[in-house]
Amino acid sequence: VWSRTVARDGRGVVTVGGLDVRSLAAEFGTPAYVMDEADFRARARAWREAFGDGADVYYAGKAFLSKAVVRWLYEEGLNLDVCSGGELAVALAGGMPGERIALHGNNKSVGELEQAVKAGVGHVVLDSYQEVERLAAVAERHGTRQPVLIRVTVGVEAHTHEFIATAHEDQKFGLSLAGGAAAEGVRRVLAQPSLELRGIHSHIGSQIFDTAGFEVAARRVVGLLAEVRDEHGIELPEIDLGGGLGIAYTSEDDPREPAEIAAALAAIVRRECRAVGLEVPRLSVEPGRAIAGPTAFTLYEVGTVKPLEGLRTYVSVDGGMSDNIRTALYDAEYSVALVSRASEAEPMLVRVVGKHCESGDIVVRDAFLPADLAPGDLLAVPATGAYCRSMASNYNHALKPPVVAVADGSARVIVRRETEEDLLRLDIG
Ligand code: LLP
Repeated sequence: VWSRTVARDGRGVVTVGGLDVRSLAAEFGTPAYVMDEADFRARARAWREAFGDGADVYYAGKAFLSKAVVRWLYEEGLNLDVCSGGELAVALAGGMPGERIALHGNNKSVGELEQAVKAGVGHVVLDSYQEVERLAAVAERHGTRQPVLIRVTVGVEAHTHEFIATAHEDQKFGLSLAGGAAAEGVRRVLAQPSLELRGIHSHIGSQIFDTAGFEVAARRVVGLLAEVRDEHGIELPEIDLGGGLGIAYTSEDDPREPAEIAAALAAIVRRECRAVGLEVPRLSVEPGRAIAGPTAFTLYEVGTVKPLEGLRTYVSVDGGMSDNIRTALYDAEYSVALVSRASEAEPMLVRVVGKHCESGDIVVRDAFLPADLAPGDLLAVPATGAYCRSMASNYNHALKPPVVAVADGSARVIVRRETEEDLLRLDIG
């Protein structure tokens, strides 16, 4: 669950990239997200290498995006998936070339489509009939032919350990394959001279440990490619199977390696194409969590330790649901460790909570920490690199924590801590 360069030194103090967490806390304050740049780059590279030159890896920027991260991804040869004008702006500011960016979203505004067309994004993933018209008009106005994929709903809903092939059509994303909307979307795109249909996109869910759901998705997407060939006489050259590969949040989780996923997906697509007599299209994937998630931990300082007789001990830290909403929102499980010193004390059952004004403000629901835990101790919650800073809020006017990147034995702030001036700047009275 920890990033690769995390270790404990002889005194029991945790280090990351050779740096002591106590000095990081002293220099940058708490709470802080501490991101291991070497680990981030290694994971990005592993995905890139696993898929090879015949495929594209789009990092899903919603997991965590900053200019530094965009630069690492660019240097490691990845592409970038963005799903809003804001993410697109960061991608461009970080130096990602337009052609290596894909734009997603189920309700992109005309402004966002303009921004994407102007940036020359590699493709836009279309999600509705209205958007076909909207993007066609924008592309026409700019005198370009915009490459697009169509996002389809394949009828597979995959979550964690299981996938369910029912009760999936009832959600907002994509055009339904089973209901015929996807085939109609293809007709509408092909009727627009300013759009170039490159392929089909599917995303089945998140925190998935098993390739079975992807198999069903790939089979159905390839089935649509065969229908398109039969109806229109064209073979679409690309398919994108989305993201969703799971990571270890606790030691119970057993994630797949990128090489294993890449081999499985390539084999499925090859087999399905052979079955219907299609050339194998170019494959792309969009991992977010699997790259960013394991690379960071959140460093907190303990403020209070409150034993509840016969129940458990509540440990309050200096952050909470504003820097990690996932426990409250999804009942997500995290682990936690005392990182600023060794302790020989007996373990006690704790709940790690934040400082916000509600009882659902839980960071780690159940954990064991040493019974001598005291205010001033530092705790770290691993695997917070994805969907924590990117879903952070200013609830109770909390200031969003910084992201500190550690590399080659030194640390630097890549996203600074918010200040009260930042909050007040928006409040014009
Ligand atoms: N591609 C598309 C079209 C997506 O919608 C998503 C995630 C991804 C790729 C990346 O999925 P990943 O590989 O990171 O699982 N906030 C939630 C996760 C929502 C993900 C939404 N879409 C969480 O904190 O778990």
